[in-house]
Amino acid sequence: MTYLADDKRYDTMKYRRLGKSGLLLPAISLGLWHNFGDVDNYINMKNMVTKAFDLGITHFDLANNYGPNPGSAEKNFGRILKEELMPYRDELIISSKAGYTMWPGPYGDHGSKKYLVSSLDQSLNRLGLDYVDIFYHHRPDPDTNLEESLMTLDLMVRQGKALYVGLSNYNAEQTAKAVEIFKELRTPFVIHQPRYNMFDRWVEDGLLDVLEDAGAGSIAFVPLAQGVLTNKYLKGIPEDSRANNPTAALKVKDITEEKLEKVRKLNELAAERGQSLAQMSIVWVLRDRVTSALIGASKVEQIVENVKALDHMEFTAEELKRIEEILK
Ligand SMILES: NC(=O)c1ccc[n+]([C@@H]2O[C@H](COP(=O)([O-])OP(=O)(O)OC[C@H]3O[C@@H](n4cnc5c(N)ncnc54)[C@H](OP(=O)(O)O)[C@@H]3O)[C@@H](O)[C@H]2O)c1
Repeated sequence: MTYLADDKRYDTMKYRRLGKSGLLLPAISLGLWHNFGDVDNYINMKNMVTKAFDLGITHFDLANNYGPNPGSAEKNFGRILKEELMPYRDELIISSKAGYTMWPGPYGDHGSKKYLVSSLDQSLNRLGLDYVDIFYHHRPDPDTNLEESLMTLDLMVRQGKALYVGLSNYNAEQTAKAVEIFKELRTPFVIHQPRYNMFDRWVEDGLLDVLEDAGAGSIAFVPLAQGVLTNKYLKGIPEDSRANNPTAALKVKDITEEKLEKVRKLNELAAERGQSLAQMSIVWVLRDRVTSALIGASKVEQIVENVKALDHMEFTAEELKRIEEILK
């Protein structure tokens, strides 16, 4: 049966302005890094994407290399678009990236014009789109002149293949340099995508200030520390968890007793707030200047639970103090 989006999809989601740009993002966005590859169940991914959209998640984040195999997440999302979501294209913000290894040889990685141009063309082909809404350089390339990578992003906008551009994994200093170049070129640089969660807070040491000064916003990836900042690992390693998946980035050895001790205490605090720990972890990354929390999911129910986080976004000073003490 043809998918019809829920009429109420815009009733509860919160939309937040990306810096000083014209673009609004949902407070929660869905990333397709895991669970959307060749090895995953297509019906499950289609259900996750359509449920997300029904809940007002208008932003879906991809990259050339998401899979496995690399490229397959874009291919699968392209199929979902074609089968279900294309009538809603103008309601969607679809992003992709290039910067990590994608194909063999000297032109399939990093930040050269040759790589970035070819990669975006390949992404558009897999997605079945004429343009992406946001195109990112996925990581800084120390061996390519910054101007070359950034002028290529600018070119993509001029060619109409991307509406806005972003940077990911650039540190505060690299971002500040990039902002100067973008200003000169008048490139619509509107977003930075950094790793950010209660266990990894590097963005607080300068990056958010640089972005604020530049009038750009941010979207925090891995807000749940790949699932560790939920209640899921408190009683061991569940069979259907990312840590138990050999193709996934999270390894059992990363879930240390020291981390679990903190997770237990955070879980208690979340319960006192009337939230699950997943929900508290999401609203925590949104408490100061971050525009959107970029979650992943393996099941529809996780998306439903996570979106409910927005029912209770405020923290008392006492709660924030307790979180700081737990994380020490
Ligand atoms: N720019 C970059 O360099 C970069 C790097 C990494 C990621 N990203 C982006 O960030 C997105 C999110 O990354 P991520 O998937 O690692 O984020 P995450 O939100 O920290 O972790 C998602 C995982 O947590 C678990 N989970 C989610 N909701 C849950 C809930 N309510 N209760 C229990 N477990 C829950 C699921 O794992 P299970 O499989 O165990 O159920 C899910 O796959 C990616 O898809 C990608 O778009 C960007």
